[in-house]
Amino acid sequence: MSQDVVEKILRLKAQHNAVILAHNYQIPEVQDIADFVGDSLGLSQTAAETDADVIIFCGVHFMAETAKILSPNKRVIIPDKNAGCPMANMIMARQLVNLKSKHPDAVVVCYVNSTAEVKALSDYCCTSANGPQVVQAVPEEKEIIFIPDQYLGSWVMKQTGREMILWDGYCPTHHRILPEHIMQQKQKHPNAAVIAHPECIPAVTDIADFVMSTSGMIKAAEEADTDEFIIATEIGMLNPLKKAHPDKSFYPATELADCPNMKLNSLEKLLWSMEDLQPEISVPEDIRQKAQTAIDRMISIT
Ligand code: 13P
Ligand code: SF4
Repeated sequence: MSQDVVEKILRLKAQHNAVILAHNYQIPEVQDIADFVGDSLGLSQTAAETDADVIIFCGVHFMAETAKILSPNKRVIIPDKNAGCPMANMIMARQLVNLKSKHPDAVVVCYVNSTAEVKALSDYCCTSANGPQVVQAVPEEKEIIFIPDQYLGSWVMKQTGREMILWDGYCPTHHRILPEHIMQQKQKHPNAAVIAHPECIPAVTDIADFVMSTSGMIKAAEEADTDEFIIATEIGMLNPLKKAHPDKSFYPATELADCPNMKLNSLEKLLWSMEDLQPEISVPEDIRQKAQTAIDRMISIT
């Protein structure tokens, strides 16, 4: 890591009164320089509580939008504007409007991995950690539309016993993790516990010992009665896990689970974005307010 780049970033951070956020999947150099590392909603909530004027979100586009939704008076910058999330882009607002018109009385629960426009059309937001809790809070007689992740949706259905109308979105990175990868790692590390993200396909979550959000994985590794873990999620997660538990061993289910969008951010792009405070994220105020309502409803449940 170039010390020069690091020093310039720190100087600009002070100059702009900025806070740097890094999602758990970011490259280690970016995680190391961030003020906070975590999951997307947790980071956005933490940043909203700071008195920073500027949020630099090292993550993908929907995450920076979520930060803007919760901090309308702060400037929100993303180091690479091309860092999108294919799963979030698998449902567009007009497609959700069309689906809702077919189920006019249904309650829409949307995963936080979605655009601000889609959140604005939803009744509740949820995260990979609180999906079951949010769905359970919807009155029994109500039909539920769950978007955009079919695998998180089917996992929530299993946890809650609630039928839902699922959108057929998915995360292409988690989709690459297969049960045979887990079995191969199990052969090498027979005492390891398997922790999988609910974005994985059911054949993977079915054989996992724990199914957790990225933040939940750090806690699970602390509480489990083993020191070895096979991690079925994006490989960037290995870094925060090893940092939090230096005495434990973590093995990726497969190195194929590498999200190219998350990896678009680099230390250099972080510096450039801080030099001119661009690219900046904006969310139209009417959409922002509606999206915030969906997030607030989730928070009031959880
Ligand atoms: P969480 O950090 O909310 O578990 O999300 C995982 C993910 O895939 C984000 O892109
Ligand atoms: Fe989107 Fe999957 Fe990448 Fe997360 S890991 S940003 S859900 S494509």
